[in-house]
Parts: sequence; structure tokens; C-alpha cells
Amino acid sequence: MVDDSAIPVRVNVARLQLIGVMHLQRQRRNHGSQNCQQHNQDSQSFLHVPIEPHSQTFPNRALALSQLSSRGLGIPALSHLSSNAMSSSQIPVLESYGPEHLETAFHALQADVARQAAELRTSEDREQFRLYWLGRKQGRLKLISDAWLKNAPAEARRSLGQHFNQLKQQIEQALEVDPANLAASSAPADAIDITLPGIRPTLGAEHPLIRTMHEIVRVFEHMGYSVGVGPEVETDYYNFEALNFPPNHPARDTQDTLVVANQQQKPLRDRLLLRTHTSPVQIRTMERKPPPIRIVIPGKVHRNDAADATHSPIFHQVEGLCVDENITFSDLKGTLDHAMKELFGSNVRTRFFPSFFPFTEPSADVQISCIFCGGKGCRKCKHSGWIELLGCGMVNPAVFEFVRGRQPAYDPKKISGFAFGMGVDRIAMMKYGISDIGLLYSGDMRFLEQFA
Ligand code: PHE
Repeated sequence: MVDDSAIPVRVNVARLQLIGVMHLQRQRRNHGSQNCQQHNQDSQSFLHVPIEPHSQTFPNRALALSQLSSRGLGIPALSHLSSNAMSSSQIPVLESYGPEHLETAFHALQADVARQAAELRTSEDREQFRLYWLGRKQGRLKLISDAWLKNAPAEARRSLGQHFNQLKQQIEQALEVDPANLAASSAPADAIDITLPGIRPTLGAEHPLIRTMHEIVRVFEHMGYSVGVGPEVETDYYNFEALNFPPNHPARDTQDTLVVANQQQKPLRDRLLLRTHTSPVQIRTMERKPPPIRIVIPGKVHRNDAADATHSPIFHQVEGLCVDENITFSDLKGTLDHAMKELFGSNVRTRFFPSFFPFTEPSADVQISCIFCGGKGCRKCKHSGWIELLGCGMVNPAVFEFVRGRQPAYDPKKISGFAFGMGVDRIAMMKYGISDIGLLYSGDMRFLEQFA
């Protein structure tokens, strides 16, 4: 009879009940259970009718109804709730005015009210429900109370009155509830509540370090620089030797790092290590391409530094290299001064101090006027008014000599260049007011969400 794939379709209990025949109740059908079950045939009975999906005409409901019909229940047409549909023939029969019978009769009425109230969906439903129960002339409450009170013995009147009052209260309470809420509360447990806020997918956002790195790179891109990258696991040659750190040179001590194990049989220059700076990419770039070169190199680097609030064994740098004919120290100064103004604001000033790097000569450390106090002196700049931010210098001719074997155009007599390198972590911390470098590597969502 009914297809096994049939799903239950809600049937308006109140409407069926109104015509006083039976109650159809929506119920999820278990496979293997009987398709039609009929229970006690009193006014409380329920019929579980599986109905085919998308069936506008409810053929299976008709089927179920006709089965009932054959059991002698009779099926009038379904109609909307209406007080007119009430007739005296549908006034429940009260077996006696004894307290037990009264109790049972009112219990049944209360159940009717509760079931219908649960079916209310629209304000129209609610109005029909109100008329059906409380209509002044044809309302069910009025008809029943008239019928029952008429013959009531004096001693039962008081109790009857109380019961009617309770019933009326229940109806009135049902009418107070907003139908929208009623619908939500009576929905099946697995129903989708479209009034709930959706589940917002967490959108990814740039990490503050990556964001800062992009900002720095963009400043140089606007000056015509391109971007270069290189391996994080580097050879001793590119990380040190070609940058004019000879084996055993004390300058290597400042850049201690992890070295890949069991490479003793290899010549020192071929041994692998985690790069300590992005400068090896200068060499790799020049080996591949003759001058002119204008390149920035963002990337991750590693050093044997004990972690504290300002040090991390992993950090990030942006390196820069410019090589061409007639590149001078004033080009370096002008480029970095402009870059710092772009990054930190046009009020920022720069100054250059002599320094040492094996791969630049002369070398300098660059300081910018304190971005927190404007140069007046504060705790952040240790009351000096200046913050040291990057290293730089003119490319050491010795570096060009290393490259020349592969690219003869790097003749230090014909070309010159400058290089610079800055720590991205430090700049990110200054820009965003981050006090502990560890936060950048902790993966703590409470920290990261502030940048989303
Ligand atoms: N590589 C140097 C460092 O990590 C920084 C630097 C780069 C200095 C380029 C001068 C020129 O300390």
C-alpha cells in the first residue's frame, strides 16, 4: 500500500479534530513498523499515517481515511477551524457529575486545547482557534458549559465552574503566545530553525608578521625592486664563505646556527645549515643574473639565540640589494630614508652609524627617530630618541669577486652596489605594539584574532 520511502507529512490535527472524527498525528515512521496503526477509538485516538513526499493531493491520506471510513468512522471533508463547524452533537457526553467523570472529561478537553495550540502557525490559525473555543455564541466552551451546567446538580456547579475556568485560562494562555514562537517550539527536534544566526566560517587573515613583510616589500616594489627568494636550508658557501666570512672567522660566531648532522665527509663549503640571514640570496641572484639588480628578499632565518621577549631562534628578515654602475652611499641613504618614511610616516628621520659586516664595506647601522615619542626620548627608545632598525653598507668588492667566477659582469672596477637587511619581527612588534616576540610564533588565536 504505502511506499516504503514515504515520509510523514504534517496533518493539521486541530482541523481533523474539529470535525470530530479522529486525530491524525504526524509521526516519523520507523521502517518495518506498520504503515497504519489505529489505537483506541475514543476522542483521544491517533492515527499514524505515512504520506508520500511532495504529494500535494495527499493520495495516501485519502487512502488512510478511506480505511478508517471502512471501519465505520466516516470522513467528512477537511475544513478550516470555524466555530460554525461546532454543533451540539459534538458536545462530549458527560457520564455523570461525579468528580472522577468530571476529571476525565475536562482532561480530554484540556488535551484537545493543548494539541490544537501546538498546531498554531499563523495569526489566522490563532484567530480561528480563539473563535472555535471562545466564540460568544458558537464557541465550544460556551456550548459545552451551557449543556453541562443546564442539568448540573447544585453540589456539582461549583466544581464545574472551577473546571471551566481552568480550561478558559489554558485557552487564553495559548492565545497569548506569539504564533511565531509557538511554531518554533513545536517544530520537530531535527527541524532547521531559520531564525537562528548562521555558523560563521572563520576567515583566514594575514599573520602580523606576513602582513608587515608584505608592507616592507611593497615599499621597495614601488621603487622598482623585484622580489627574490632562496632556500632556508643553505650551504656554508652561500650563507658564509661567498659573503666573505672565511672559515673560522670570528664574525661567524655572531651567527651560530643548526647544522645538518653527519656531513663531515663533505668539504665545509657544501655542508648544509639553516640559513642565518637572507644575504645568501644576494649571491644566488647575482650568479643567475648580470647587473643591474634591484631586489628585495623576504624570508625566514634561524640563529642559536636563547628565546626571550625580544629574541627568537626563528625570525624574519627583508634583505635588499642594488647593483649597477655608479651606485653610491648617498643612493643607499636616500633609498633607506625614503623607505623608512613610507613605513613609519613622513616625520621619521634616519641616521647612519659606522658598523661592520664582512660582506659590506663601508657598513652602517641605521637608526630612525623614535616613532613613539617623535625623538624626545621615552622608555621605548631608552630615552635616546632613536631606535636602531637595520644594517647596511656598500657591497664589499670581495663579494663581487666570489660571484665573478659565474658572472664576469660583476667587475668591482666597473660596478658598485649597496645592500641592507632588516628584522621583520622587530618592525611588526613596533608597528602593532607587541611586547613579546614569542606571541608571533605561539599560534594563540586570542592574539591572532586581533589582526583579523
Ligand atoms: N645579513 C645581515 C644580518 O643578518 C644584515 C645585513 C644585510 C647587513 C645586508 C648589511 C647588508 O645581520
